[in-house]
Amino acid sequence: MSKIAEIATTFFAYLKRPDLYPELRRKIWKNLFNRSSALRGKEEAEIWCKKLAVSEKEFIENILKINFVPFENIFPQEYKDALQAQDKAPVKMGGAGSLSVIYYINEYAKAQNSIETGVAYGWSSFAALASLVSRNGTLYSSDMPYILQNQSEDFVGCVIPEKYKNNWDLYRFADKESLPKIFTKENLFDVVHYDSDKTYDGRMWAYKLLWDRLRRGGVFMSDDVGDNAAFKDYCEQNNYRPYIIEFDSKFAGVIIK
Ligand SMILES: C[S@@+](CC[C@H](N)C(=O)[O-])C[C@H]1O[C@@H](n2cnc3c(N)ncnc32)[C@H](O)[C@@H]1O
Repeated sequence: MSKIAEIATTFFAYLKRPDLYPELRRKIWKNLFNRSSALRGKEEAEIWCKKLAVSEKEFIENILKINFVPFENIFPQEYKDALQAQDKAPVKMGGAGSLSVIYYINEYAKAQNSIETGVAYGWSSFAALASLVSRNGTLYSSDMPYILQNQSEDFVGCVIPEKYKNNWDLYRFADKESLPKIFTKENLFDVVHYDSDKTYDGRMWAYKLLWDRLRRGGVFMSDDVGDNAAFKDYCEQNNYRPYIIEFDSKFAGVIIK
């Protein structure tokens, strides 16, 4: 598809979704005036991440002080079913980060209320819920549909085991609309996992809102923090101590509040 055809298709797909008009307005603005936000400071962020990076196992055992067993070994049947559900889905969506880190930060915080941005197939939701259901806790998720894939909405969260879904509260809007709606239901969280709008400005907007609603001792996690300098700058500006975890050649950032 040519660039112009892609822009036109995206535009008309948005027009069919009045609930996403605010995001359409923001996308137009961003494309006209703020195109550099996705990769701002990427080079320095990557160097910083590489310098600090530890493995999943090192983080879980040395910082969380929990014995590390990979997530897929703790829930082998659920994991196998999830892989099958993903294979059957006719749409291609964003992939999973470190399921083990997500599971164990919820265990560490003994989470009752967790919030995540970005669901796609629901791998991160599956990992958070695997911990939350043992305390009958709730996962609040914000996820904007893949606008160019008609069927994608039917498959958002398709890898999450059915038995976990009573503990899952999904908001299908852009974060700028979803988060205020979620905050009217719950305003204090034990765990935050950010994995949606990866632009510098998108992160900076959401990080502060989410951080302010994270309880002391709670855990803040953001995926793909080597993509631009937002996480690095956020930590430096606020004097927060970050942990960087390398997984599948990508970097996740974690801060314990
Ligand atoms: C990388 S995927 C999430 C993967 C998921 N966390 C996992 O580990 O399996 C990113 C998701 O965020 C959604 N997304 C992107 N921008 C968003 C925004 N501004 N607000 C809400 N969701 C957004 C995408 O549509 C996609 O479903």
